[in-house]
Amino acid sequence: MNAGPVLVLDLGGQYAQLIARRVRECGVYSELVGHDVSAGEIGRRNAVALIFSGGPASVYAEDAPHVDPGLFELGVPTLGICYGAQLMAKELGGAVERTDVSEFGKTALRVDGGELFAGLPAEQVCWMSHRDTVTAPPEGARVTAGSPSTPVAAFEAAARGLYGVQFHPEVVHTPHGQAVLENFLYRVAGASPVWTARAVIEEQVERIRAQVGAERVLCGLSGGVDSAVAALLVHKAVGEQLTCVFVDHGLLRKDEAAQVVDTFGANFHVPLVHVDAAERFLARLEGVADPEEKRRRIGEEFVRVFEEEARRLGDVPFLVQGTLYSDVIESGGEAGVAALIKSHHNVGGLPENMEMELVEPLRQLFKDEVRRVGEELGLPETMVWRHPFPGPGLAVRIIGEVTPERLETLREADAILLEEVRRAGLYRELWQCFCVLPTIRSVGVQGDERTYGYPVVIRAVTSEDAMTADWARLPYDLLETISGRIVNEIPAVNRVVLDITSKPPSTIEWE
Ligand code: XMP
Repeated sequence: MNAGPVLVLDLGGQYAQLIARRVRECGVYSELVGHDVSAGEIGRRNAVALIFSGGPASVYAEDAPHVDPGLFELGVPTLGICYGAQLMAKELGGAVERTDVSEFGKTALRVDGGELFAGLPAEQVCWMSHRDTVTAPPEGARVTAGSPSTPVAAFEAAARGLYGVQFHPEVVHTPHGQAVLENFLYRVAGASPVWTARAVIEEQVERIRAQVGAERVLCGLSGGVDSAVAALLVHKAVGEQLTCVFVDHGLLRKDEAAQVVDTFGANFHVPLVHVDAAERFLARLEGVADPEEKRRRIGEEFVRVFEEEARRLGDVPFLVQGTLYSDVIESGGEAGVAALIKSHHNVGGLPENMEMELVEPLRQLFKDEVRRVGEELGLPETMVWRHPFPGPGLAVRIIGEVTPERLETLREADAILLEEVRRAGLYRELWQCFCVLPTIRSVGVQGDERTYGYPVVIRAVTSEDAMTADWARLPYDLLETISGRIVNEIPAVNRVVLDITSKPPSTIEWE
């Protein structure tokens, strides 16, 4: 990985982040940067190529985003997408016009040679979304594709390293889009597909060693994939200098605490402090039914326990945090990421006043890349692909006061659900699936007896990023099996219901 990154300049388009991901899928490291990045900075970073993203503005709008004109003089191969292509045309002697016809959706593309389309069919389909249109390509550029209402759907000036496409190669609705990006990266920019999980591991191990030296490092494990992968990377880098602290709040799913201890202690031989704090947390939750109050108390107790353990370990100057690249982007880039933990999702967040230097080995990675690194490091499949789980755990899935009996009931129901969903081969298709225990009771009949038991709610959703979600259409047969098992195997439950609401208006969790 000696070559520099492919830098995607964010011109405000909704797909800017997706472009960087697609480039990475080609095995080439890519980062999103602001459109105001200077030519000097691009030079310093030794960028192997630039991509200008799309954007909602018209290039003629007063506040339309621009790029440093010096970028065009660097000789770095540059691909403009949609707005990015229009900007190139406008800045470099071509023309952009607001035509009467806008083009949205699937569009037929007629291709006429060009590096970007090498090896691809002359007639293909692409995804368009624009109002303004390039009517003349930049000076010296050749038109390489057109659509019925966009004569200049692609252009290239190979000698100047300039390439533009009006359509969106990064979306799945452009079937040859990935091939267009590959052509740009491999043929035009001469990049190689060397950004692999193994390469990431090697690079991070070196960086961690350089950052940490001979000092000690502390890492909080949650049972989720991010902290697990971060811990394994650090362990690979500095071995026994790392101590992991697993604060077991007693609110995890069935067998998950044991799995964390087994995986890290027994398999990977990571020095692990397992703090069984279930009783402390339960005591703090006694009599509390309000969701916010539950979260607050759990968060507070978590910090308290973690600090106690850290103090016990003596002087440890470094703290591992599983910050992902999407968090870095969301927080507006490089600065200020440490304070990032969202307030509503702050449980499992660590105290701000700990004055430790952060080690963040996942800062460059998207979630799916973290999973690939986890697989490469040998993390068990059940951990690598584990669904997201809220920091306050089962406490926010018991609607009402949390008691040991209710926890036990929910754990058993939840375990049955997961077992059956896995058996049906649907686990990875779902964003999350879990049970909720509302602490109301209803009447039932079992044998000849009247029962008065809890209902269990099945919540299963599909989602891309948890911002929105749809309820999963689980097969009726599967639902029947799950329902039958739950009411037969768990005496306290006599009814199973299915949550059929999307987000919005609901949230994924019930509290
Ligand atoms: P909602 O319920 O807001 O959840 O639709 C969106 C995603 O966030 C997870 N979630 C949490 N994660 N601490 C976390 O680490 C929390 O307090 C928390 N609350 C919700 C939820 O499981 C879903 O994936």
